[in-house]
Amino acid sequence: MGKDVIVACDFSSAEQVFTFLDKFKERKPFVKIGMELYYAEGPEIVRQIKARGHKIFLDLKLHDIPNTVKKAMAVLSGLDVDMCNVHAAGTSAMMKAALEGLTRPDGSRPLLIAVTQLTSTDQESMEKELLIEKPLDQVVMSYARTAMEAGLDGVVCSPLEAGKVHETCGESFVTVTPGVRFADGDAGDQKRVTTPVKARELGSDYIVVGRPITAAADPVEAYNRCVKEFVG
Ligand code: C5P
Repeated sequence: MGKDVIVACDFSSAEQVFTFLDKFKERKPFVKIGMELYYAEGPEIVRQIKARGHKIFLDLKLHDIPNTVKKAMAVLSGLDVDMCNVHAAGTSAMMKAALEGLTRPDGSRPLLIAVTQLTSTDQESMEKELLIEKPLDQVVMSYARTAMEAGLDGVVCSPLEAGKVHETCGESFVTVTPGVRFADGDAGDQKRVTTPVKARELGSDYIVVGRPITAAADPVEAYNRCVKEFVG
């Protein structure tokens, strides 16, 4: 798996995201478009960013009945995104339907990864509200295994879990990991962070980096530093 840095473009308008992307004259970063930007600007923002030569991870975290997810994924596949995702909690029937919907007539498709338990869910809320009583890390690994068995390509997880995910699901199962900060950077609201160098050592395949790049005084310099530290 080729390692890469994905820049989380957490902006609320096309104008803001283009002002940011215009700074990148040479290497065009792989970008993550999340719900905020997609809901504000619609599918056209995906087409426009794609037309500028960026790879796109469309982070919409689908979770619905299999038929609805299959049809929605067919639309996203037509947008020519490179990576998209679903909640593993939708179960393997939904994940398999998502794969079917994503697969284009020529057999190609974007990478499909699963969200396991959100990092905002803790052991207490999982037990009290979801009635899941197993330890959180076991739940995450079980969801990852189910995603792999359904045919998905990988999961979103912490860099700290990447090694265990690879042990459980195989080396080629992709780990996409947020929660990355430079050694001399501000953690902000992220609780468990690792540096790009550490994420590489821990076996992450893709790191998702937002504010350390988007809010940097020189975003291109911060991106290049991130690539150098993570990809080498
Ligand atoms: O700015 P920052 O580097 O913290 O951005 C991280 C990105 O990764 C954000 O888009 C955030 O929503 C996303 N993410 C995360 N933790 C997860 C899943 C996604 O930080 N568990």
